[in-house]
Amino acid sequence: MADDFVKRLRKAGWTPHEGQRAYLRCQARFRVLACGRRWGKTDAAAAEMTHRITTRATSRQLAIAPTLAQVRIVFERMKWMLATAGVAFTAVTTPHPIIRVHEGGVKKAAIIHVLDARSGHEAKNLRGRGADHVLIDEAAFVPESLITEVAMPMLAASNGRMTLISTPRGRNHFYRFFRMGESKEHGFWSRRSPSIENPLVSK
Ligand SMILES: Nc1ncnc2c1ncn2[C@@H]1O[C@H](COP(=O)(O)OP(=O)(O)OP(=O)(O)O)[C@@H](O)[C@H]1O
Ligand SMILES: [Mg+2]
Repeated sequence: MADDFVKRLRKAGWTPHEGQRAYLRCQARFRVLACGRRWGKTDAAAAEMTHRITTRATSRQLAIAPTLAQVRIVFERMKWMLATAGVAFTAVTTPHPIIRVHEGGVKKAAIIHVLDARSGHEAKNLRGRGADHVLIDEAAFVPESLITEVAMPMLAASNGRMTLISTPRGRNHFYRFFRMGESKEHGFWSRRSPSIENPLVSK
């Protein structure tokens, strides 16, 4: 991660723990975090998405969670991280949460970064878009077709990346993606860790 961004986050009290660092360092195209409650999955993904904005000329990112209330968490964390990183942005919550960064930080200038935060319920409205990074939060709790038929095709033209994060939920699609990461198949990487890897979580 870019030093300045990391320094600013640390100064503001946000220091990635070992598992988060492994995720943030990982170069795999598809990253799967199957970790316990409060491990810091959503924050790790928010840091990754904010980092992308601070280091690239342009980006188009999409965050999806089963409900709007859940996806608002990553939206709010990204707002905090962008402000901490000193990035000028605009954020709206209707018709759904969107963060935009304009060229030179000037509102009327061209939009160079976009983050759309959408509920999985709206999946059918998401078809036809492109993205260079898609986050699916609580990925074990969204339909598999949302991942494979809606989100993955969005990445095809951009050779984009995907982050799947969740607490596990039996041996469903999320478990299968996790296993692909374990065997490093098809560009997948995965990590499984208990909640206590987050030093903020008491034993
Ligand atoms: N590296 C960090 N430094 C400081 N605080 C952190 C860090 N990582 C996570 N946190 C804080 O720990 C708490 C849990 O993090 P987060 O919400 O990202 O976890 P989660 O794994 O997504 O949890 P859940 O299972 O509830 O979705 C939050 O208050 C978050 O801001
Ligand atoms: Mg979370």
